[in-house]
Amino acid sequence: MSGTGNYLTAVKAFPGRGVTISFLGVLVPTERSGPDRLTSPRAQPRTMTTDTFSELTPVGEIAAREPRTVGLLLEQGLDFCCGGNLPLAEACAAAGRDVSEVLELLRGSGSVAGAEGSWLGRDPAELMAHIVQRYHEPLRAELPRILEMAERVGSAHGERPGVAEILSQVRVFAEILPAHMDREEQELFVTGVAPESAAACMGALEEEHVEAGDGLKLLRKATDGFTLPAEWTCNTVRGLWAALEALERDLMEHIHLENNVLHPTLGGA
Ligand SMILES: [Fe+2]
Ligand SMILES: [Fe+2]
Repeated sequence: MSGTGNYLTAVKAFPGRGVTISFLGVLVPTERSGPDRLTSPRAQPRTMTTDTFSELTPVGEIAAREPRTVGLLLEQGLDFCCGGNLPLAEACAAAGRDVSEVLELLRGSGSVAGAEGSWLGRDPAELMAHIVQRYHEPLRAELPRILEMAERVGSAHGERPGVAEILSQVRVFAEILPAHMDREEQELFVTGVAPESAAACMGALEEEHVEAGDGLKLLRKATDGFTLPAEWTCNTVRGLWAALEALERDLMEHIHLENNVLHPTLGGA
């Protein structure tokens, strides 16, 4: 591991306290007041900036500026993480959606309640801590549970369409995603990383994000969009399909925050 300190270690070392850190800087524990400042985005002004989106706005920028639109983007089948650089019009064309209708829906999404504020312009160390606590740690806990369900469905329904592909992909995720997150935490989410090392690391991580995105697409296809099979549904199939749908949303949000918000602030593309 490069660097002089690991901010995650600092977070664990000072429970109940924040860590004042500037990226590549020194860790300084600070008193925290009010809600958990490392996990709760600051309240953002509820301006209706969705009005400023156009057909040319990259999908990742839409999700970054207005995280409350993420659910809608998912519903519309628009890739806002690995394909986040595509303008909305191109992303809609790829997903077979009418861009005018999607823009109308986006502009009407301003009333969605409870969504997180934008992470744009925030301290990268704060965002890294959020990613670890909101996405990495839950995913590490969830993957063995998903793998166990997939193995059981594979044993009981292995001859059914899509089941072999689902099991194979879940095994791949269970093997590669923990290693990917370890690498992020050990090589990028640390202080003192040389800019050229950070850039190389982010390039490699983004390639792995593309592979993960392809795996999610495979799972969506193999489950027919997480539609329960009419003839052979059982409780384990129900649980697995629900877990895979939740995995899709969480992993897309997770990759989006890294590719489109965090990496650019650290000098990435
Ligand atoms: Fe991550
Ligand atoms: Fe990642």
